[in-house]
Amino acid sequence: MHIITSVLVAALLGQAPVLAHPGEDLRHEANLRRHYLSLQANNLDHCAEAFEAEGLHRRTINRRATRVAELGGSLDNLYRRQAPKITSSHKGSQGYKLDTDPKVVFAGNNNCVLTPEVTEGPFFVQGQDIRGTIVEKEIGVPLHLDFQLIDVTTCKPLKDVYIELWNVNATGVYSGAISPVNGIASDTSNLDRTFLRSVQKTDANGVVQFSTNFPGYYASRATHMHVMTHLNGVPKANNTMWDLSATYAGQLFFDQDFINAIEKLDLYSKNRQSKTKNETLTADSYVEYVTLGDKVDLNNGLFGWYRLGVNPTYNWTIMAAAQRLKEGGKIKTGNLGAGVLFLGGFPTYAPGAGGAPAPKPTKGL
Ligand SMILES: *[C@@H]1O[C@H](CO)[C@@H](O)[C@H](O)[C@H]1NC(C)=O
Ligand SMILES: *[C@@H]1O[C@H](CO)[C@@H](O)[C@H](O)[C@H]1NC(C)=O
Ligand SMILES: *[C@@H]1O[C@H](CO)[C@@H](O)[C@H](O)[C@H]1NC(C)=O
Ligand SMILES: *[C@@H]1O[C@H](CO)[C@@H](O)[C@H](O)[C@H]1NC(C)=O
Repeated sequence: MHIITSVLVAALLGQAPVLAHPGEDLRHEANLRRHYLSLQANNLDHCAEAFEAEGLHRRTINRRATRVAELGGSLDNLYRRQAPKITSSHKGSQGYKLDTDPKVVFAGNNNCVLTPEVTEGPFFVQGQDIRGTIVEKEIGVPLHLDFQLIDVTTCKPLKDVYIELWNVNATGVYSGAISPVNGIASDTSNLDRTFLRSVQKTDANGVVQFSTNFPGYYASRATHMHVMTHLNGVPKANNTMWDLSATYAGQLFFDQDFINAIEKLDLYSKNRQSKTKNETLTADSYVEYVTLGDKVDLNNGLFGWYRLGVNPTYNWTIMAAAQRLKEGGKIKTGNLGAGVLFLGGFPTYAPGAGGAPAPKPTKGL
């Protein structure tokens, strides 16, 4: 978990927030997330009819199929996860062929609702470029993503919203951050790196597409990616995003079977950090995917998709671990002096001034 400044959160926990470190369990974070989700819809299942009625579902299927074709996927031997169970492997046994109806392949409605304050991980770096291709020179399994952002209160896509994505490279290192748990801590040039981070604006269907690499692992968290929304974000003249308000954050995960397969690849197997297997999740935060190429070879990469829900009536503010400036990266040591354990500092959270009131604590956390 992270250092959380909010009085609300301290009250929810019934104790002063404590400094956490890798290896510590994430139960508090999971409890906070559960609490927030208990106050409102925790998935988009109630939107299924609206999606059909507005043709959103049909457009989604077409868009995903088109993207796979663009990526050189032959649509032969697509290998898709099945069985949307949270507790078991999603590995699919079914092989899809060229003539498989795209409706069958891409109809998955996997989704989760992002929370305003708690599921954020460390290493959020403010000031990233608005761009779709974020791999730079990193080597890894290409991961092409299609995200759709939906307002849980109206079931409508949210257009012109900026979505931020960041993940570690194949050996589990974040760019833009320095910490004993992030690669070689003495390599201060990592602060200036920007790989596998970016921000993009949703289109009329609430969609953004990113091309990143499949993440490696690092201590204490299962293999994941971070996503965050900037509901009213306005880019700077140099096309970077600095917005810290109305941020909804979440982590997306992958099937353990699939992670195991990726970790057998040379590049990923060089990672010497400790490994955490999949966490116990309360929502289906697993990216749905197909492998690309004309045979199942992970090196060809994959195409993944996911729907993200947010409730835009809550407004919170996030603090960054570091900033990316023209002259290079800069650690935000002011953030609660977390520099003792994490030179980069953990991001911290406080309810935004203005906006809707924070959710009221209830019993049964
Ligand atoms: C991940 O990034 C770190 C820092 O730049 C670098 O030392 C490491 O070699 C990278 N891993 C791979 C697989 O390139
Ligand atoms: C999570 O890990 C457990 C234990 O290895 C495994 O049984 C289960 O299938 C995994 N779940 C997913 C979604 O991969
Ligand atoms: C982009 O613009 C902001 C605000 O003007 C500035 O602080 C930042 O250093 C610039 N970033 C880059 C990478 O040039
Ligand atoms: C959230 O609150 C901040 C500070 O009052 C304000 O600048 C921002 O526009 C608000 N965002 C939304 C989406 O209401």
